[in-house]
Amino acid sequence: NKVVLAYSGGLDTSVIVPWLRENYGCEVVCFTADVGQGVGELEGLEQKAKASGACQLVVKDLQEEFVRDFIFPCLRAGAIYERKYLLGTSMARPVIAKAMVDVAKEVGADAVAHGCTGKGNDQVRFELTFFALNPELNVVAPWREWDITGREDAIEYAKKHNVPVPVTKKSIYSRDRNLWHLSHEGDILEDPANEPREDMYMMSTSPEAAPDKPEYVEIGMVSGLPVSVNGVKLSPASLLSKLNEIGGKHGIGRIDMVENRLVGMKSRGVYETPGGTILFTAARELESLTLDRETMQVKDSLALKYAELVYAGRWFDPLRESMDAFMEKITEKTNGSVRLKLYKGSVSVASRTSPNSLYREDISSFESGQIYDQADAAGFIRLYGLPMRVRAMLEKGI
Ligand code: ARG
Ligand code: SIN
Repeated sequence: NKVVLAYSGGLDTSVIVPWLRENYGCEVVCFTADVGQGVGELEGLEQKAKASGACQLVVKDLQEEFVRDFIFPCLRAGAIYERKYLLGTSMARPVIAKAMVDVAKEVGADAVAHGCTGKGNDQVRFELTFFALNPELNVVAPWREWDITGREDAIEYAKKHNVPVPVTKKSIYSRDRNLWHLSHEGDILEDPANEPREDMYMMSTSPEAAPDKPEYVEIGMVSGLPVSVNGVKLSPASLLSKLNEIGGKHGIGRIDMVENRLVGMKSRGVYETPGGTILFTAARELESLTLDRETMQVKDSLALKYAELVYAGRWFDPLRESMDAFMEKITEKTNGSVRLKLYKGSVSVASRTSPNSLYREDISSFESGQIYDQADAAGFIRLYGLPMRVRAMLEKGI
């Protein structure tokens, strides 16, 4: 039998290959998804996988699918976890796990394996996706089974099994990178009292070192989804890379937070989401023109639940899918463009326009009044405030 392993080429997943062969007696097909983690990571990977004992390496470029079918729906929904987290890792796991289910079918494997620890969210996200898409697959999570405890252990295990130890210097942080974000956890960050060191950041320059001149960027949107940057139409993945580049230059999108993991513990993470932060600002600004009060309130309240489901790995849950249908409908008329000013870590709005804008200067202006009659307000306020008057009358014995 065969197992498909989510493989990165780092020390941990390299050790998992011989461990699976030894403990499960199966052939190991390594699978690497390109979700925009950086090209360097894919070079020489096949040789590396084979040197570890894999029979095959499958690489799939999932970048456009990831941005179009996973990131953009979350953006449209306005999904933010615990006030800050833009869900970069949470969205990537289901697209990778979905591809693993496909690869398992293609190569005739009856099992899948991942290198997530037993303490995190990622294991849940992988496995719920496997359950949802192919409940017959067996799942192996070596970190929850083996007795390898640290880096030294892993190196020793690799040597004993003639697996070349990856030469890449292991970073002190636990990082996860894709087109949307880069996460940092571990080491000095484990104490929430410690400020991150400047040399940790990889996608963004510090606001202090960012250009002294602001830069304007214009985002075009159709039905709540971004389609162009500065008037140039771009595919989802290239649009996002472009904004990462511009945003990163201006120190946009650094987030430092303590979050509640699904498995119950708190964890401190620092995220870099330059392009994503620009896009969230643009979407919100456009919605301020296209959504009325109650629509916006309902959308925002559902966005909380939507984010929670995505964080918890329930991407392929009919609940999230149904909420997505709602989000698609409610943002149908969110068309237009937003011009943003980027300056030393901040994104501020300079202008927003929409052919579907509900804003009418002829109604809102202080200058005039044709449709809106100020005298109407008196009766409105009397009726709207009636319950408050009744209560006050009761209290005062009137
Ligand atoms: N805490 C974030 C999340 O749960 C980031 C996890 C990063 N994962 C990793 N394997 N380094 O989504
Ligand atoms: C891991 O434990 O594999 C990374 C952290 C997480 O999943 O939350």
